[in-house]
Amino acid sequence: MLLLRRCRGLTPCGGLAPQRGQEWRRALRLASSSSSSSSSSSSSSSSSRDEQRSQHGGHTPGWKQAFAGLLAGTGAVLAYGLHHHQAQHTDAVSVHAHLSRLPVFSQEEVTKHRTLQDGVWVTYKGGVYDITDFVAMHPGGDKILLAAGGALEPFWALYAVHDQDHVLDILSEYKVGELSAEDQKKQESLRSGDPYSSDPQRHPALRVNSQKPFNAEPPPEILSDSYITPSAFFFKRNHLPVPRVDPASYELLVEGGPGGGLRLSLEDLKSRFPRHAITATLQCAGNRRSEMNQVKHVKGLNWGIAAIGTATWAGARLRDVLQAAGYGPDAARWARHVQFEGLDKDAAGTTYGASIPLNKALSEDGDVLLAYEMNGEPLPADHGFPVRVLVPGTVGARNVKWLAKITVSAEESASHWQQNDYKGFSPATDWDSVDFKSAPAIQELPVQSAVTTPANGAVVSRAEEQLTVKGYAWSGGGREVVRVDVSLDGGHTWQVARLKAGEEFSPPPGRAWAWKLWEVTAALPPESRQLEIVCKAVDDSYNVQPDSVAPVWNLRGVLSNAWHRVRVQIQDD
Ligand code: MTE
Repeated sequence: MLLLRRCRGLTPCGGLAPQRGQEWRRALRLASSSSSSSSSSSSSSSSSRDEQRSQHGGHTPGWKQAFAGLLAGTGAVLAYGLHHHQAQHTDAVSVHAHLSRLPVFSQEEVTKHRTLQDGVWVTYKGGVYDITDFVAMHPGGDKILLAAGGALEPFWALYAVHDQDHVLDILSEYKVGELSAEDQKKQESLRSGDPYSSDPQRHPALRVNSQKPFNAEPPPEILSDSYITPSAFFFKRNHLPVPRVDPASYELLVEGGPGGGLRLSLEDLKSRFPRHAITATLQCAGNRRSEMNQVKHVKGLNWGIAAIGTATWAGARLRDVLQAAGYGPDAARWARHVQFEGLDKDAAGTTYGASIPLNKALSEDGDVLLAYEMNGEPLPADHGFPVRVLVPGTVGARNVKWLAKITVSAEESASHWQQNDYKGFSPATDWDSVDFKSAPAIQELPVQSAVTTPANGAVVSRAEEQLTVKGYAWSGGGREVVRVDVSLDGGHTWQVARLKAGEEFSPPPGRAWAWKLWEVTAALPPESRQLEIVCKAVDDSYNVQPDSVAPVWNLRGVLSNAWHRVRVQIQDD
């Protein structure tokens, strides 16, 4: 029934003979019934696929979420959708194996299907897909309608980070025909081009977690080689293509305020406000996610231990700019948050956004910057040129790059990344039970440390007699790391690491924004053939790291800060 509904409005190009149309519909019905019977026989779960579909108005929530992810670029949503889908999905490929002869449609015909009334069709790689039922059911359907009647490729190009095979597999269920060869050729030539084509050049030493959008981290030993992480090696975490911004026409909008708002050029920012510089560590919420993955699969980029770095940032204080716009301490009477919007946009025009608490933004000790320099140079394109927010002590996600707009508000940012991502959950929470509204957005990060050298799996020669272990340690919220303990025997015995001085070695209390690098040189235990090196840091609130990953595991793999463990072989020469 549903599949028949999906076929409404079929007036295939080239005049599909009525008989052929009937055959095709029969094939669809057959395919549908065979798939539902196979699903009920292969699974002990009660509802068949047809039942599930009728309950959900034709499509499973899994499809809805997955497609939302495909179009809106929301990794977590996609992950949620795929999880459901895998549980409920019968083999779409086998369904369509029955559909050996799909009708051919012209682009003109596809373009007629742009509304719920006329049906919502899209094309992808020469296939025509009817996604009407999905759009009808999905609250964010208006965004998806941007793709209606046209090609999915531009959206797909933006979200290449997603697991294409899975999403395509899901999409294949909705295939209703082929696009005519002539129109396929036209599409090829019209294709708008790769939205990532103007992304900057990156250093080849970076370990790439995803090319488009670009996400990469340096080899860990680079981190402990220099207190300040060179910008080229600083981890890069982009959700979207890097916007190319002309500094001459750049304008930052500070919305509202008693003065009716403020528009600032880059020059205004530099000349009207004192330049303030801080050395601060920036860490992604997903740093060390790969260790969570080893416990149980999590959704997200598989970051190692180097989605963290320390730079000297300079710019105007956010506090000064807000005050110039008329936001003084009184603002706290009605506002709680400061929202930021970036210039990077997804295919539907949605920009990256986040917010921080107003008191952090206004506090003299908060040191929040509208940074235009990184390590003494203009910000590199990947790090937010010409202006980014730098919120020391706060998770990377709130440090909005390519800053376009600032809004003082009673509400947090409504952005996906504030509301439905970058939140922590219990290990008991899974994609069936997660309620993103139930958890606060991550702001200050917990205490962290990791061994940068030797690398896990390294082999050291016994002839060397000694081993030097190096690493980093940092805590969020301006809490200073006061000690790092290192063990070579899996945590049975410990020694205290030497904390290495950076310029910021004695920061004012509550403003320890930058990491401590540390080092231990220890004799190789004569009887051991293998070492399990462990490190753990303590901050000035005596917060410590958890000893193992499992109790802090969470479905998005964020806040991964268990004792870091590295195994090393000792080779007898
Ligand atoms: N700002 C914009 N506009 N777009 C983004 O994708 N990513 C955020 C944050 N700010 C992001 C952004 C995340 S998740 C992190 S961890 C940091 O930028 C990474 O900053 P970096 O790339 O300079 O290291």
